[in-house]
Amino acid sequence: MKKYVGFVGWRGTVGTVLIQRMLKEKDFKNINPIFFSTSQIGKKNLFIQDIYPYYIKDAYNILDLKKMDIIITCQGTEYTEKVYFELRSQNWKGYWIDAASSLRMNKDSILVLDPVNNVLIEESIKKGVKTFVGSNCTVSLMLLALGGLFSKNLIEWITVHTYQAASGSGAKSMLELLQQTGIVFNNISSLIVNSHVLEIEKKVNSTIQSANFPIENFKAPLAYSLIPWIDKKMKNGQSKEEWKVQSETNKILSRTDNPIRLDATCVRISSLRCHSQSFTIKLKKDISISEIEDILSSHNPWVKVIPNTIKDTLRYLNPIAVTGTLNIPIGRLRKLTIGSKYLSAFTVGDQLLWGAAEPIRRMLHFLIK
Ligand code: HSE
Repeated sequence: MKKYVGFVGWRGTVGTVLIQRMLKEKDFKNINPIFFSTSQIGKKNLFIQDIYPYYIKDAYNILDLKKMDIIITCQGTEYTEKVYFELRSQNWKGYWIDAASSLRMNKDSILVLDPVNNVLIEESIKKGVKTFVGSNCTVSLMLLALGGLFSKNLIEWITVHTYQAASGSGAKSMLELLQQTGIVFNNISSLIVNSHVLEIEKKVNSTIQSANFPIENFKAPLAYSLIPWIDKKMKNGQSKEEWKVQSETNKILSRTDNPIRLDATCVRISSLRCHSQSFTIKLKKDISISEIEDILSSHNPWVKVIPNTIKDTLRYLNPIAVTGTLNIPIGRLRKLTIGSKYLSAFTVGDQLLWGAAEPIRRMLHFLIK
């Protein structure tokens, strides 16, 4: 019998991308989907046509949720914290698949990124693990890009500098960025043809610094700027986003007891939905760039090694080239002048696809085989 799969948070950015991917891959034919919502309760499901059932259920109704074999939530941490423990305390034994971060480091949960840790996922299901969580987007995108080097145990340490898209901060933040750019453009458009560029630049800055410039979500202007802080502050001076890089990477790789050292500086930039990352990697041994390219490109079907040329870099290695695709280009591969074991690389990935929805979608397949 087809499993009952409850969906929560399927109208947000990650949820919408998840549903689009599931429709494209015809995943719904293998399950009985039930749609839950915190705001559309009892309404007809006009968002996804031709899919049973037509009426949306209450995402806080524990009795209805308990009837599910699997619950997939993209609703966010607040929902997870309110509902997950309540369901478990009522002895619900179903599978919980979550895109939010709150359960990631729980000892009972597994971080899912099956091109990297499919064996761990399979073994965990056999052992009776019931909670599977998508990892941080930069972590997933990094592991897909560098999967070959990780799997061959060639990495001594990595420092990452990220260039993270507005989408990582949610739908409202994407809209805020668009609003910011629109306001700036409207204020300077009449000057573009006849004014000196420095006069225009002055007007851009005074617009951005004006008291009513919209910064409710980002807490600082992002258009024509950047924000070198993502998430809360940790005691050691890292941001929480930076802290996740080492902790989640090692959890995915089952190396929590013998962690690979990673650290990061995470920066929000004005890309809409693709995260980019620049890596400095200390290799365990000196291997050639062509060997590294072979190792990287043979790891999974999505990673694409981009030759270190101007033409290929401008064409393939940027957010606009990657957006809306599952491609994980990695390029700018070269040894640093400081030594032959030091590798530099740059990658880009869609934050909503491999960074969030796709690992979750693929996890469902392990449970409905
Ligand atoms: N924390 C990420 C970001 C979202 O802010 O970009 C994806 O996990």
